[in-house]
Amino acid sequence: MDLDALNKIAEAIVAPGKGILAADESSGTIKKRFDAINVESTADSRRDYREMMFRTEEAMKNHISGVILYDETIRQKAKDGTPLVKVIQDTGALPGIKVDTGAKALAGAEGETITEGLDGLRERLAEYYKLGARFAKWRAVIDIKGDEIPSGYSISTNTHALARYAALCQEAGIVPIVEPEVMMDGDHDIDRCYDVTEFALKSLFDELYAQDVALEGVILKPNMVIAGKKCATQASVDEIAEKTVRCFRAAVPAALPGIVFLSGGQSSEQATENLNAMNAQYKDVMPWALSFSYGRALQAAPQQAWAGKVENVPAAQAAFAHRAKMNSLAQLGEWSRALEG
Ligand code: 13P
Repeated sequence: MDLDALNKIAEAIVAPGKGILAADESSGTIKKRFDAINVESTADSRRDYREMMFRTEEAMKNHISGVILYDETIRQKAKDGTPLVKVIQDTGALPGIKVDTGAKALAGAEGETITEGLDGLRERLAEYYKLGARFAKWRAVIDIKGDEIPSGYSISTNTHALARYAALCQEAGIVPIVEPEVMMDGDHDIDRCYDVTEFALKSLFDELYAQDVALEGVILKPNMVIAGKKCATQASVDEIAEKTVRCFRAAVPAALPGIVFLSGGQSSEQATENLNAMNAQYKDVMPWALSFSYGRALQAAPQQAWAGKVENVPAAQAAFAHRAKMNSLAQLGEWSRALEG
């Protein structure tokens, strides 16, 4: 393992003012997004949509360090025949790849899931490396339902799998993004989210250590510590920032180069505002860079503006560039609502 090379990739992903575009929706998920804007999901419409973002130079050159792709996209060509991977590389951003094969029912644990995809992963990673991927993503889904879920069993199996994936990535020269996502569906309060997130992170870093994964070549992609969407008491931005940073300081080793949040169903502006609050108030006490790896919070606005029509491409690119810039400022702790326009 070339840890120096892995560390350089990880540092580039969380360079000041930069973050990740998560464009790795599975075919099922992107269909749902397209249904909402009345666009038929075909290989060509998915290509056109994603190419539109990858060709938004202002966003890609200045604010986006990496793009997470889905298996279909890493093999696709732009309309003019250029591989989409090359379109991304030409902007200076790094191509990445989602390698898990999704969350399946966990045996013996009703209502909980285990993320699959380890079989054949070594060979798949070698191929993805050749296709240009320099980082990867694996997402574990941790639901909160009542007092019994998540179980210790679902957390330990999921974090064990995350560490096996991470070790294989590092062997292949690919930086693993480890994503234990505590879901924000449900009616739990922010303190329950804090406890589950802390437990999941401590379990994850135990497993990474046990499996000899070098943290200098890993990026963490977590949820923020936040109340469930259906909770009657929603926490303020300051409380979310304070509790999220406190939780990470307790659970995330300093050797890790960076943490990139998922947006998880927060509104686009909320995801920006919360990230900004953490960087504006706590940069001095955080040993790692704190940035974004947003799917919905970067793409909701351009999807609305695009609606599948060629004539809307400039407006959609402007919407994407705007959100990328707002999140870039949030990474620096320099965002303010007045800049939203
Ligand atoms: P969201 O930002 O839409 O949560 O997506 C990020 C992601 O990659 C989840 O796995």
